[in-house]
Amino acid sequence: MTEPRGVALLGATGSIGASTLTVMGRHPDRFRVRSLAAGRKAAELDALAARWDPDYVVLAAPSDSGFAPAWEGEWKYGEEGLVAAAADPAVPIVVNALVGFVGLSSTLAALGAGKKLALANKESLVAGGELVLEALKAGGGELIPVDSEHSAILQCLGGRPTSEIHRITLTASGGPFREWPAERFDSIRPEDALAHPTWSMGHKISVDSATLANKALEVIEAHLLFGLDYDLIDVVVHPASIVHSLVEFRDGSTVSQLGHPTMEVPILYALSAPERLENTFRSFDPAETGRLEFERLRHEDFPMFDIGISAGREGGTSPAVYNAANEIAVHAFLEGRITFPGIPALVERVLGEMGTSPVESLEHLMSVDGEARARARAAVGTPAAAGGETSD
Ligand SMILES: NC(=O)c1ccc[n+]([C@@H]2O[C@H](COP(=O)([O-])OP(=O)(O)OC[C@H]3O[C@@H](n4cnc5c(N)ncnc54)[C@H](OP(=O)(O)O)[C@@H]3O)[C@@H](O)[C@H]2O)c1
Repeated sequence: MTEPRGVALLGATGSIGASTLTVMGRHPDRFRVRSLAAGRKAAELDALAARWDPDYVVLAAPSDSGFAPAWEGEWKYGEEGLVAAAADPAVPIVVNALVGFVGLSSTLAALGAGKKLALANKESLVAGGELVLEALKAGGGELIPVDSEHSAILQCLGGRPTSEIHRITLTASGGPFREWPAERFDSIRPEDALAHPTWSMGHKISVDSATLANKALEVIEAHLLFGLDYDLIDVVVHPASIVHSLVEFRDGSTVSQLGHPTMEVPILYALSAPERLENTFRSFDPAETGRLEFERLRHEDFPMFDIGISAGREGGTSPAVYNAANEIAVHAFLEGRITFPGIPALVERVLGEMGTSPVESLEHLMSVDGEARARARAAVGTPAAAGGETSD
């Protein structure tokens, strides 16, 4: 029997983190938690450490509230701790389930060290772009998407070269405001945006799904992951979230991957690919599902989609600026500082102010990200925060 493979789980206290632990808990003979990382939820991390017995845990910063951990193992802190966990020689698999740009250094560290990286943290790929692909090439590891759409495309491709693709179509649930008239968007409250119709997720991605920024991030992600021109990537609204995406091959055959909307399936696939492990889900019954419906995107009413695609097409620093301004805008919306339509207005303004330039280095990208955040914060009157804007 082979030893279970060690896993570093970054973002252990989040929605993807919890699902990853559920999945790993079903396969103790295959996977073992070697480290767990979280942002602010020190007590939750402490409890997870007691349950999963990692070698060490990582917290964004030492707790200043006098919190005393019950778990007696090693605590590491900050970005240094995240990077150490991502590059740990004892760990062949890294799950990056952090939210936001803060995940970039871990993505680069894991890929640079040749790990298999199960990537939920799409913001790091979108903002990091070529830097992430260079780290993947240099490290010789693997980059497996956790996003259900990209997992679907990977599975539909089945190892065929992307030169055989005619186009791919990402599905989008359409979010909670799919049927709302745009005239009502000014009245949208944070709790409306957090009530996603088909997926239960962290706050930031829930708002991104509501604005369709999430779908723009996913198109950029698909462009980078599969090396496809933007003209070959379509998006269709599919409210039931059963068809997770489609690949149309050049011979006219379209292949899709279907299933109930649960992140546990793509997480398990990212951990085990290309192998398929036993799962405990109820089978997919097409007759029970009934009709599968598809609609076009409402581009004019959800401008975050087109703004994001333009930033992706522009390339260079633009996706990072789009991402950074969006992170601040989402935070400001959740705090009641700006309206829902204020999100695209803010992002467009920051993109217009900053223009674009080629990414020179990680330091350059970090400084662009910092400047975009500063401009967005200044525009909405948010005080400078110590990072973690997008955490719940
Ligand atoms: N949820 C989904 O169904 C889903 C689906 C596809 C893709 N994704 C992607 O997966 C990522 C995670 O999403 P989520 O919904 O799981 O988010 P979430 O529930 O908000 O969880 C985010 C995690 O990141 C941690 N974190 C935040 N800032 C940190 C920092 N500075 N240092 C260390 N840890 C930090 C949080 O810790 P604390 O909670 O302790 O602060 C939490 O564990 C996002 O990129 C999202 O787009 C999510």
